[in-house]
Amino acid sequence: MKHTKNYTLITGGSQGIGKALAQSCARRGMNLLLVALENEHLPKTAAELKVAHPDIQVDSLGINLAQKDAAKEVFEWCRKNDYQVNMLINNAGFGRSGWFEKMPLEMYRTMIQLNNQTLFELCYHFIPMLKQNQPAHIMNMSSLEAYLPTPYKAAYTATKHFVFAYSLALREELKQFGVNVSVLCPGSTITNEDGLKRIESQGRKARLVVMMPEPVGEIAISELLNKKQIIIPGRVNKFIAFLSKRIPIRRKMRLLEKLFRSYVEKT
Ligand SMILES: NC(=O)c1ccc[n+]([C@@H]2O[C@H](COP(=O)([O-])OP(=O)(O)OC[C@H]3O[C@@H](n4cnc5c(N)ncnc54)[C@H](OP(=O)(O)O)[C@@H]3O)[C@@H](O)[C@H]2O)c1
Repeated sequence: MKHTKNYTLITGGSQGIGKALAQSCARRGMNLLLVALENEHLPKTAAELKVAHPDIQVDSLGINLAQKDAAKEVFEWCRKNDYQVNMLINNAGFGRSGWFEKMPLEMYRTMIQLNNQTLFELCYHFIPMLKQNQPAHIMNMSSLEAYLPTPYKAAYTATKHFVFAYSLALREELKQFGVNVSVLCPGSTITNEDGLKRIESQGRKARLVVMMPEPVGEIAISELLNKKQIIIPGRVNKFIAFLSKRIPIRRKMRLLEKLFRSYVEKT
């Protein structure tokens, strides 16, 4: 079947923040292409969205985006099905914390491939299509950690700095072609049961600095459509980003080291 409508493609759209982004797009009547690992979550989320929003098209592709050439495969899937993408949301990613040299090198390779290389290649392949489907948008997932280089999460933090810098620069290049680029920098967001239990057990203060995925998704899509350059959901997160730019770097790094060492030692 050939499709002439526009689609929003969301990587990691089956769970967590990606699912919340998909729900926010669906509420706005946007057709969706969900791309995530091939497991039970992806068809379940796609089916839920179709039931809740029968007037939109939802299709999905199960693929390991941490594999070399995954981006090209995603693009070919769209080309073959004539899915005209006018919004690319690069959300899939993961992080680990701990002593840098104590974690397997292979895990870092996967993290860098997924968080950076595939994101970067998806932009590369889809930009010509986005230019033809204006107004078009790219939203790349960074993190509040783009403001806070975090010890004991050195590799993850670095991948999110890459996304931050790359997105800001790409935005300026693509502006003249009707393609908006925004970078999303959420703070700590509870995306699973364990995280929820941990925060509930830590009391009021901990709850102040975390968000649930649904408001993150809603703020992100609303600000993306307004072509915001940097999207930081939540007042507390905005304040942390503001403060982080005003603390001298040596002091900031000492504080972060202290804070995250105690976290790593407890886990
Ligand atoms: N949660 C936070 O506190 C937070 C804060 C700032 C930034 N972020 C960033 O936000 C993004 C989403 O995080 P999240 O917490 O929502 O994660 P999550 O709940 O673990 O969801 C990750 C999504 O990405 C998919 N995915 C993971 N590895 C994949 C792979 N190799 N190939 C294809 N799809 C893959 C997952 O698919 P499956 O369902 O099949 O596993 C899932 O749909 C990440 O880039 C993360 O770094 C998160």
